[in-house]
Amino acid sequence: MVQGVRIREGATELLVPEQHSSGGPGKIFDTVFFNEQMALNRDVSVMFLRALGRHMKVADCMTATGSRAVRIANEVPDTEVVANDINPGTVPYIEENIRLNGLSNCRASRENLHVLLAKEVFDYVDLDPFGSPVPFLHSAIQGCKRGGILAVTATDTAPLAGAHRAKCERRYQARPLRGPMCHESALRILIGYVAREAAKFDKGIRPMLSFSADHYVRTYVELRNGAGAADECLSKMVYLSYDPDTLERSTSPTPDDRHVYGPVWGGPLFDRDILERMSPEGMADERRCEKLLELWREEIDSNPFMYDMSEVASNLKVSTPRYDTFLEAMAERGKVSRTHISPTGFKTELPTETVKEVFLAVSKRD
Ligand SMILES: C[S@@+](CC[C@H](N)C(=O)[O-])C[C@H]1O[C@@H](n2cnc3c(N)ncnc32)[C@H](O)[C@@H]1O
Repeated sequence: MVQGVRIREGATELLVPEQHSSGGPGKIFDTVFFNEQMALNRDVSVMFLRALGRHMKVADCMTATGSRAVRIANEVPDTEVVANDINPGTVPYIEENIRLNGLSNCRASRENLHVLLAKEVFDYVDLDPFGSPVPFLHSAIQGCKRGGILAVTATDTAPLAGAHRAKCERRYQARPLRGPMCHESALRILIGYVAREAAKFDKGIRPMLSFSADHYVRTYVELRNGAGAADECLSKMVYLSYDPDTLERSTSPTPDDRHVYGPVWGGPLFDRDILERMSPEGMADERRCEKLLELWREEIDSNPFMYDMSEVASNLKVSTPRYDTFLEAMAERGKVSRTHISPTGFKTELPTETVKEVFLAVSKRD
C-alpha cells in the first residue's frame, strides 16, 4: 500500500507524498513530485475543459501523482484520460487516486511521453515539465489531433524573463527582455516558440488562454492544420523595442536596430468566448479563480506590452498615484485595463505620451 497524505483539491480526493512542496517551482522530496501551489494551475485546466463542453480524450503526459489527470477525469464530464509519467514510482499514486475517486474513465500509463504520443493521438495534450517544455513540444504536437488543444507550462522563468539571456536564446531562439514587461515577454516567447514549432509541421496555433502566475507561464492553444494556418501564425510574430528613457515601446514584424527583443507572439492571448463560459464554482481556490477570470476578461488583448505604475513613477520622478484614480483618469482619455500579469500593471491603446501626461496630472492631484 502506497504511503502519503490525503488531501482534497476541488471535488477530488488525492493521495500525495507526505513531504511535498507548497510553493515556488517546488522540489522532489520523495521520489514523486507534488506542489500544492499548482492547485490553481489544475483548477484552470478543469475550468477550461469544462467550458469546451465536448468529448475529450486527454493525455496528461507528465502527471506525477496523477493529480491533474484524476481531477479532469473526476470533474470534467465526458472525458477519457491517460495519466502518464515516466517515473515508475508515480504509478502506485496514480492507481490509488483513480481508486479513491472510483473512476472508470482514467488509466495509469508509465511511458516516456515521446513513445506515448507516437502511438496514440489525443484531443488534449498537457505538458507540465520541471523547467522548459522545449524538449517535449515536437512530440506533443504530433500527438495532438487536428483541432485539438495543447496545454503547455514553462517554469524556467529565469531564462524566459531575461535573467539568463543566453539560455533563453539557446532554448527558445528568442531574445528576452528584462524590466517591467519581462513576464509578458516570457509568456509571449513561450507562445511564439509553440507557434514556430507547430509551423514546421504545417500547423497553426490559436491561443485560447495564456497567463503568467506565481513562478510559471502557461498557454492553451488550439492546433489548426494547413500551411495557410501556419503562415498566418508566423505573420503574428513580432520583435519588440523598449526605451527605458522615454518608456516608448513598439513592435515590428522584422528585427532592426531598435526592435531587438524576440521574436515573440504578437497576437491575442485569450479567446473571449471560452473565458465567458469558464466558471470558478467548486474549484480548489474559488476566490482566486474568480478574480483571475475577471482580470482575463477585462484585459486589453489587442496591444501587447503592459506598463507598470512603478516604472512610470520612477521615469517621471514623481510619487505613484492611487492605481484606481489613475485608471479612471486614463479611461476618460481612451481604452485602459488592468492586467493579470501584475497587480500594479495596466494596458492601454493610448500613446506613451498620453500615459505620462495623465500620470503626471494625477500624481500632482493626489
Ligand atoms: C513538474 S512534474 C509534474 C507535476 C504534475 N503535473 C502535477 O500537477 O502534480 C514533472 C513530471 O514529468 C515527469 N517526466 C519527465 N520526463 C518525462 C518524459 N519524458 N515522459 C513522461 N514523463 C516525464 C517526471 O517524472 C515528473 O513526475
